[in-house]
Amino acid sequence: MDMKQRIADLVGDMLRAAFPDAQGLPDDLAALLEVPPDPALGDYAFPCFKLSKALRMGPPMIAQKLAAGGGRPDIARVECVGGYLNFFFNRENFAKELLSALLAAPEQWGASEAGKGKTVCLDYSSINIAKRFHLGHLSTTVIGNSLKRIYDFQGWHTVSINHLGDWGTQFGKMICAYKKWGDRQAVEQGGVDEMTRLYVRFGEEAAKDPALEDEGRAWFKKIEEGDPEALEIFQWFKDVTLKDALRVYDVLDVHFDSYAGESFYADKTGRVVRELEEKGLLKDSDGAKIVDLEAYGMPPCLILKSDGATLYHTRDIAAAIYRKETYQFDQCLYVVAYQQDLHFKQLFKVLELMGYDWAKDQCKHVSFGMVSYEGQAMATRKGHVVLLDELLTRAQEKALDIINEKSPNLENKEEAARQVGVGAVVYATLQNNRIKDIDFWWDRALNFDGETGPYVQYTHARCCSVLRKAPADLPAPDYGALTDDESQALLRLLSRFPEAVAEAALRNEPSIVTRATTDIAKAYNKFYYEHRILDDNAAATAARIALTSACRQVIKTGLYLIGVHAPERM
Ligand code: ARG
Repeated sequence: MDMKQRIADLVGDMLRAAFPDAQGLPDDLAALLEVPPDPALGDYAFPCFKLSKALRMGPPMIAQKLAAGGGRPDIARVECVGGYLNFFFNRENFAKELLSALLAAPEQWGASEAGKGKTVCLDYSSINIAKRFHLGHLSTTVIGNSLKRIYDFQGWHTVSINHLGDWGTQFGKMICAYKKWGDRQAVEQGGVDEMTRLYVRFGEEAAKDPALEDEGRAWFKKIEEGDPEALEIFQWFKDVTLKDALRVYDVLDVHFDSYAGESFYADKTGRVVRELEEKGLLKDSDGAKIVDLEAYGMPPCLILKSDGATLYHTRDIAAAIYRKETYQFDQCLYVVAYQQDLHFKQLFKVLELMGYDWAKDQCKHVSFGMVSYEGQAMATRKGHVVLLDELLTRAQEKALDIINEKSPNLENKEEAARQVGVGAVVYATLQNNRIKDIDFWWDRALNFDGETGPYVQYTHARCCSVLRKAPADLPAPDYGALTDDESQALLRLLSRFPEAVAEAALRNEPSIVTRATTDIAKAYNKFYYEHRILDDNAAATAARIALTSACRQVIKTGLYLIGVHAPERM
């Protein structure tokens, strides 16, 4: 039930009929089809401009000639307007075919096998050990989670990786501070905050007594050499940090297949350095080792410090090679803020210079803009970082207030508030093109009427409520009841939903799904206000119920794909 493809086929037939000997016509006619901005101009339009050269004829003339031939029962009419050929569906037939196809496997609407047999690695969230999970990591977490779901839905095998920031001399310093001034219970209770306190104290003390720096380095060396005590404390710091993070992941319903972070690659960087050396790519620079990237207009990529320590880049090179060898990925996505644009450009270039050709078109930096909070940068609101779990808790409280006011008799209000509050935050993060900076406002995000998560969720709950009221014994639908403009607008959006999902995967852009889902919700509400759904005409009621049911499912799928729950009542 791909109307776009059908129209493309029809255009193909028309072309062959009107111009049997034409050469050099485009193969993919579907790609040329456009959706007219105003539905009064048709359901699809075919612009004839691109054919002008091959056919040596003006576009309006081509349109005329084409329109003369062909025709199909599912197309009500074809009109020429200038160089465009406008196609109008047979409305009743369209409603019938679309709803029959959609409702035959409702949960699969939008699914595809485009990625069958292919693997995508997704590196997202990738938090840093001993640091709080703050809002800087919100976008990467929810964009990555959404992309994982979208790719899964498109038939890919997905591997989600939390590339933990868990390597570096700071961990030696932290252990050193812990040994001197720390206390097991304080860390257990204070978690990351206590680790931060220790780290800050280390800095202060080291300013007075520089010998401390050496001690800190010595502790890091112990981690590197596998000293049991150092490893035990280090692992414990990690566990404490992850315990915090897992609470947030749980609320967001985010999961990882692997937590292999920077430390995991510590014993795999030797090979990278050797390989770079053998391939003649390493250069000395004041005792450090670098790969010169001047020829590519980039600063050098640092591989080893003068003391022989590896860097963020070194471990990322090892990680990319490891992922390729372990998962044989067809794509490897890095969902990381745009501040790291240069880091990834350098990374991919070095891999390419090493002869790993796949880096060039299989590794992608999926970057995104900054999040600010009611006009202020999220990370520094009132001088302290805005923490993700605080934000989510606050969202749930606010959602509960609204639910108490709007639906005081709702059962299980806490659960609904959880889904609505969290949904509002996730939706707001995925609402716009990911490269755009986001300014988050409570009023805006939690508004039940604007373009928000709660609005879309509310529309889903509205569909559920209509379906609950529907009589059980409806006859076969009369699709003639769905030929009005509102029903048709909704049907058109439903029919294009699969395209939106495919496009979202292609461009790594979850906001395309957010947009498509929101448009469906808006169109449903318009339909709902303009038409009585349950009336005396049982066959017409059945048709409107079928449309409601299709809509409910597609909204639910769309929300799922962006990582938002769809409560049935709210
Ligand atoms: N931990 C890093 C940060 O918080 C992000 C890591 C991204 N992934 C990677 N493979 N470099 O900035």
